[in-house]
Amino acid sequence: MQALAEARANIALVKYWGKLDAALNLPAVPSLSLTVDALTTRTSVRFDPSRTLDALFIDQKPADPRALGRVSRHLDRVVGSAAANARMFAEVRSTNDFPTAGGLASSASAFAALTLAAVAAAGRESDPTKLSVLARQASGSAARSILGGLVLLGVGTPGQVDSSFATQVASEGEWPDLRLVIGIASEAPKEIASTDGMNQSESSPYYAPWTSSAPADIARAMDAIARRDLPALGAVAERSALRMHACALAADPGVVYLRGPTVEGLHAIRKLRARGVPAWFTCDAGPHPKALTSPEDAAQVARALAEVPGIQRTIIAAPGKGALLLDGQRVSASSFTPETRIA
Ligand code: PMV
Repeated sequence: MQALAEARANIALVKYWGKLDAALNLPAVPSLSLTVDALTTRTSVRFDPSRTLDALFIDQKPADPRALGRVSRHLDRVVGSAAANARMFAEVRSTNDFPTAGGLASSASAFAALTLAAVAAAGRESDPTKLSVLARQASGSAARSILGGLVLLGVGTPGQVDSSFATQVASEGEWPDLRLVIGIASEAPKEIASTDGMNQSESSPYYAPWTSSAPADIARAMDAIARRDLPALGAVAERSALRMHACALAADPGVVYLRGPTVEGLHAIRKLRARGVPAWFTCDAGPHPKALTSPEDAAQVARALAEVPGIQRTIIAAPGKGALLLDGQRVSASSFTPETRIA
């Protein structure tokens, strides 16, 4: 009736941007990410027969009704509707090891941890494929935080809820010599939520070329990973991020996540690269510039990003583990392993 789970954020090297089926939250493009060892969320779920409502605490404080509603809907999806008496109400407590106010609050680590804790607390049978299908319905990127290391999220088939799931391409131990440096930019309080940005991006004349070019980027990234070729992976990552933002910028009206420190961060990373430092830019639905680099070069990349006006601090992240239960519980495994589709 109770479980505690932990999950880490992930940063996409080939971006998920666009939905094929909004109701089922199926991605229009395949994506590939690195789960990182920084930015961890711990979530406990306790189903309680005496409760008459769900309750949610984030970093010890009662969460706002919107966040609670999103969590309740996810619990309904994972273990059945409380309103229909298919489950008990729950107390959910979630803590992040990073400041949520810093604009880094990632729905990926949160919904991956919540999914695993809820499934375990309900005593349900599951496996990484099913957990990722569940997590994906709350947040596409959360599906990838179920697994560690380099993770692929396949493209979906409209109307089929379990058609898009995460698979591990290389575990955190199989290619440990990767680092992601995150530059935390000072930012305006509210960004455009990724779902709104994706919906808006469908009006972009670049939306169709964006979606049709994604499978080739995945193929190149998979090839680079197989060869442990950092420059090849970095080149795909930088291009994918710039194409995602180009698609968003060209929407009507344009979706602009890039800010001064983001663009200056891109130039700082390219300047380092021109001097022979292996570093490639990426950026998500927010202003923070990020760089893929090697362990040897991470400190230098972090210093260069820290010098960009508007960057408050930097985080160096290594490949991290997938979601796990912390209190000795296990999710009993089922044995279904479908094929991942990228096109
Ligand atoms: O998981 P969501 O719905 O927050 O979307 C994530 C979108 C990006 O972070 C911009 C890209 C990605 O693949 O993570």
